[in-house]
Amino acid sequence: MRKKIVAGNWKMNLTFPEGIKLINDIIQGSESLSDVQLVIAPPFTYSHEASKILEKTNIGLAAQNCTNNEEGAFTGEISAKMLNSIGVKYVILGHSERRAYYGETDEIVNEKIKLALKYSINPIVCCGEVLPERENNEHFSVVAKQIKGMFYEITPKQVSNIIIAYEPVWAIGTGKTATPKQAQEMHHFIREAIQNSYGHEIANNLSILYGGSCKPSTAKDIFHKSDVDGGLIGGASLNADDFINIANSF
Ligand code: 13P
Repeated sequence: MRKKIVAGNWKMNLTFPEGIKLINDIIQGSESLSDVQLVIAPPFTYSHEASKILEKTNIGLAAQNCTNNEEGAFTGEISAKMLNSIGVKYVILGHSERRAYYGETDEIVNEKIKLALKYSINPIVCCGEVLPERENNEHFSVVAKQIKGMFYEITPKQVSNIIIAYEPVWAIGTGKTATPKQAQEMHHFIREAIQNSYGHEIANNLSILYGGSCKPSTAKDIFHKSDVDGGLIGGASLNADDFINIANSF
């Protein structure tokens, strides 16, 4: 059985005290949850403290990015090895904001995935089309190309430690959620692509999350689709009640 996962991507929001309060509120709210792996991705500067607070809980700690280099003279960068050393268990890679604002390519994401896996960090690998691509009916080919590039030379064994997040860019932060049908169609397509390269069992065990204006009011219909295994939540993950309500939507 594949894992149900609800992950909160805080992006560049909240001060340190606000972040610590949110973590404690989420811990409290999560006590009634079963069967769902919660993951939170605060900014790097809060990771170490978050790791200590989350240590005795079942909530996983993620980073929002890591560098595509092993170590050394890369001013301002954070490596997978560093994240591993403070107990970070997941890392979001290839987010559309990193692609759009920081020039991240599938090739760079592929290098990051390999380093994350080397240091026992589970990559949450993002894909998704922009609006003109959907309007031109190119969304499947765009996502197929992203998956192919990001999974270059990734072995079957490694895939079992990877989570995919489908985040249509036109749905991120816009309040315009994909319909459950649109999400299911794409998740099924992604699972088929993984099946074609890695076989049925690996594809069937892969968790594929939906992201893009996912709210407590919309999560239920999306999460009930057979190929949707949870969500990567932006704005709504900054409110503990909303985040927990989304995790209660399966
Ligand atoms: P929103 O939920 O704010 O649309 O953000 C989604 C996202 O980008 C998560 O990574």
